[in-house]
Amino acid sequence: MKLHEKVALVTGSVRGLGWEMIQAFAQEGANVTICDLSQSDVDGALARLGLPLEKVLGVKADVTSEQDVIHLFRRVREKFNRLDILVNNAGFAWPRSGPVDLEVAGTPLDVWLKVLNTNLTGTFLCSREALKIMRPQGGGSIINISSPQGKKGKLLRGPYCAAKFGVEGLTQVLALENANSNIKVNSLDPGGIVATEAIRKIPGNRGMRMLKPEIVRACAVYLASDESSGITGHSFVAIDWNRERGLEVPYTEA
Ligand SMILES: NC(=O)c1ccc[n+]([C@@H]2O[C@H](COP(=O)([O-])OP(=O)(O)OC[C@H]3O[C@@H](n4cnc5c(N)ncnc54)[C@H](O)[C@@H]3O)[C@@H](O)[C@H]2O)c1
Repeated sequence: MKLHEKVALVTGSVRGLGWEMIQAFAQEGANVTICDLSQSDVDGALARLGLPLEKVLGVKADVTSEQDVIHLFRRVREKFNRLDILVNNAGFAWPRSGPVDLEVAGTPLDVWLKVLNTNLTGTFLCSREALKIMRPQGGGSIINISSPQGKKGKLLRGPYCAAKFGVEGLTQVLALENANSNIKVNSLDPGGIVATEAIRKIPGNRGMRMLKPEIVRACAVYLASDESSGITGHSFVAIDWNRERGLEVPYTEA
């Protein structure tokens, strides 16, 4: 097992890509912390995982709240006394209660801030707290979930592009600042639209060919494990990574 005895935390991990990574890490032997916005969702995910209690932790936390994030990392430290892997996954292109398409000219400030705070400020807050554990223990891996929109502008995705470009930049800075602490920091972009619950619900997407959420599994395990030792400051694209290794690139219809 590639992550035997390692401790991993994935934010926004009761569904979608976060849930895929939690399962992949657990299958590779890691102790895992699930974190999401609702306690009942966290409890449900822990039950689905079905692991012995000493190997799992579930914490209700909003990554945009400094207080919640500090509490989250305190719980991880109390339970496992270390943290080897942090995946900053919690994020979205549009707040789930509002419209999907956001033209900059008509984007309300609260919507802009919600997207920026979740994708980017959440990544900052969680990384900062993770470093307080990883530096003294002598190493770790931070994986920031990015998107094709973190490298190329897309119509009607202004807040999301700004946030994910920010995530790519923050990844590079964190990698430089922690190169001497044996902490690798990389970003991981699935490489396209992934058929998660929220994406499937968009009427215009019906029948569209999309990536299955498991696309991120193998590359996330690679970045979390010692196999990627010394690899830092890079931006990985899961579909390319899979193709280069002859692994399946799984597609489905929304
Ligand atoms: N689905 C795609 O097509 C796609 C493509 C590229 C990148 N991504 C990125 O992948 C990541 C996961 O997306 P997904 O499609 O699995 O989304 P999702 O909506 O299925 O899951 C995201 C999870 O994050 C949680 N979350 C949201 N805000 C949070 C907060 N403030 N604190 C804690 N948890 C919070 C949600 O409750 C949810 O469980 C995001 O960063 C997203 O930008 C998704």
